[in-house]
This record gives sequence, structure tokens and C-alpha cells, in this order.
Amino acid sequence: MVVDVKDVYDDAIRSGRYTHGNGMIGKYDNVRVLWEDEITRFAVKPCIQRLLREKDKVRVLDMGCGYGDGYELLKGIRENESTNYEYLIPEGGIECKGFDINESFITEARGRYKEHTNMSFEVASFSNGFPFKDDDPYDIYFTSYGAMSHNGNEESVRLLADVAEHSNGKSVVICDWLGRYSYEWQSLWQDREDLNPGEEDWVDYRISYFGDTDVESFPMRMMSKEEVEAVVKRANEISSRRIRIGGFIDRSILVGRHMETGDYNRYCVPIRRMVNSLFERNVVTDLEQLLIDYHKKEGADFNRLNRFFEEFCMRWNSVISYTHELLSPDSRVASPCSEAEEKIEEIVDSEAWVETSNPRANLIEPQLGYLLRELEVDLQEGVGAAHGFIAMLDVS
Ligand SMILES: C[S@@+](CC[C@H](N)C(=O)[O-])C[C@H]1O[C@@H](n2cnc3c(N)ncnc32)[C@H](O)[C@@H]1O
Repeated sequence: MVVDVKDVYDDAIRSGRYTHGNGMIGKYDNVRVLWEDEITRFAVKPCIQRLLREKDKVRVLDMGCGYGDGYELLKGIRENESTNYEYLIPEGGIECKGFDINESFITEARGRYKEHTNMSFEVASFSNGFPFKDDDPYDIYFTSYGAMSHNGNEESVRLLADVAEHSNGKSVVICDWLGRYSYEWQSLWQDREDLNPGEEDWVDYRISYFGDTDVESFPMRMMSKEEVEAVVKRANEISSRRIRIGGFIDRSILVGRHMETGDYNRYCVPIRRMVNSLFERNVVTDLEQLLIDYHKKEGADFNRLNRFFEEFCMRWNSVISYTHELLSPDSRVASPCSEAEEKIEEIVDSEAWVETSNPRANLIEPQLGYLLRELEVDLQEGVGAAHGFIAMLDVS
């Protein structure tokens, strides 16, 4: 069955959770806002700092913009997260055009940003090359939350080559795919020898996490580091400009949305829900439900990935168990074994002098959430081993 991608998202909109929700549920849950948006900002910040050295205003094209969230994402980057609250991009410093294949999104985005003279939205597709060749060049060609995974390799090659031609030779391109090797869909990891050379495997993807939807599944392309490198190499072969890979980021190693559904891995536990709970005010979380028992994927091809996930889960479980012990009455806690454990011990100790109601839910648990997010930043390898996989590209 050929599924129209517009039907998929219209269906999700009808479910209500794509637009509404709260910290615990829906598109803008706590993990999206406090974890995924922040890791995306961390990934793109160096590119924007570089651009801002040469100009004080950036032109952004948000491709597959949905409701236009790319604007808030970029605007929300802080100059220095720990010492001040100034935004990196000065007030009025972004001019943003968003486009999406789905008219419903564009109508909503135009409504949301009707007061913003620096923003515009259009219905267009990125699957047949670059749709705005007559526009002035953009500084940032941006995609977010897996939008690139609607393209196959050919479409991505074409789009990147066109974007490179269209740019002014100093632009950055942020490509956001679904990662090939997320634990959520471990059953879909494939042995290399099962694939013919150059063959693309599309996945029947479900957005069942937004509740009951009529559209059962639709094709999405999941990408590894090697596959992105091959796409960039081919785009370079047909473009007169040079596209260089600045870096890769894995986003949501254990907190992707399909951890909830177990649709593609029966060993998943609903960790996203529990991390949402860590960040939620006045909600006490059962920390034991954050623990994960990693099940290996058989096959020599997966040795390295298995090792990565085992180590990651071990460090993840360790800081959670340590916090659990610290919070258990009468427990005799051993000395901390890692920086994360030292930090959580300090936070638990500080409870006595920080004035807040429900210190466990409102002080300690959110900090545990941030420490887990820090683990993801520190330990990841940027290979496509998470729900989201971002490639930062520079054009020259
Ligand atoms: C996963 S959503 C991400 C939406 C948004 N960027 C965000 O951050 O929430 C992917 C978006 O890509 C859009 N899309 C899919 N295929 C497209 C195409 N060929 N051209 C333009 N947009 C497309 C979808 O309609 C959807 O809004």
C-alpha cells in the first residue's frame, strides 16, 4: 500500500497529541523540550557561533518545518548555559522561512507566527531537489526530528547537492535522520551481508506513540554514519561546491519514543515515560522503572554496538541505583564511583538547605534527569545508535 505522508501526519494531528499534550505526553513532552531540543541546540551551536562571527543576522530555511518549531529551537540557544541566560542569536537576528509538504502544518505555522514579520511559510517538497532556487542563499539549511528520513538516498543526494549550489559557500546544513541502530528498533538492525551493495532498506515506521491512528505504517529511511558519509560523498560528486561533515550527534539513546511501544523490540521498557516523570513537578518517580536490562543482538556485525549499549546501560543503571540508595531511608550508601554519582550525592545533600516543597520531585529528580542527559552527551559515539541522528555539514 502506498501511503501519502500527508495522511500520516493529518492522522496524528487528529489524535490530538501532536498538537496538545503536557510534560508527560504528546509531541512537546518533557523529553522533547528539556532533552531533545537541548541536545539539538548543543549540536548546532558551534555552527551558529561560527556564522555569527561574520554577520549579526542569520537567514534560516527550515525544511519539513511542521509547525515551525525550528525557529524556537534555534532562537533558544544560550550564549553560555551555565553563567547567563542571554540568547546566542540577538533579538531580531533570525530571518526564517519554513516549508512543509503538509498544508495543515503550514496553515497552523502561519497562525502561530502571524505577528512575526521575520517569518514566512510555504507548502513545498524537498523530495525532488531544492524547491526555492530563486531565493537568496540561506546561512542555515535546517531539518529537525527525523525530517530527512522521509527521503531515500537519491533524494537526499539531490537535495544536498542542490542546497550546496544554492548556498553562498559559507552555509551550514543540519540534517536530522532517524538513527539506524537505535535500541528501540533492534529487531530491524541488519547484517551487512543481508544487504546488496547500494541497497536501501526502508522501514515500515509507525507513529503509534501518538495514540490510535488509522495509518498503520509508512516508509522511513534510517541512517548510520557510513550511510550519511556515502550520501555526502555522492552529493559532492555532482555539486561544484564542497560539503564537509562537521560532526555527528546521536540524540535519545534510551529515551526515543518507541521505547514506549516496544513495537520493534520486545525488550524495551518505557523509559521515556519515566524520564518525563523525573522532570515533572510534584511527581515522584519509581526510580527502579528507569533501569534497563540490555539484550544483545546476535551476530559478529553487532559486537561493537553491543559493547557500546552494554557500557552505556551499565553507566545509566549505576547512577540511577546510586540515587535510589541515597533516597532510601536507613540505607548505607557506598562512596560514589563516578562524577555523576558524586554530583547526585551533592544534590541529595543539598536538600536540607534548599527551600522547596517536595524536594525529591522538584529538586533531586530533575537533576537526575539532567545527569542522565549528560551521560548521553559524554558517552555517545555519533554513529546512528539512537532515535535521532544529526549530521552537521559545512558548505564551502
Ligand atoms: C518528523 S516531522 C518533523 C517536523 C518538525 N521539523 C519538528 O521539528 O517537529 C517531519 C516533517 O517533514 C514533513 N515532510 C515529509 N516529507 C516531506 C517532503 N517531501 N517535503 C517537505 N516536508 C516533508 C512532514 O510533513 C513533517 O512535518
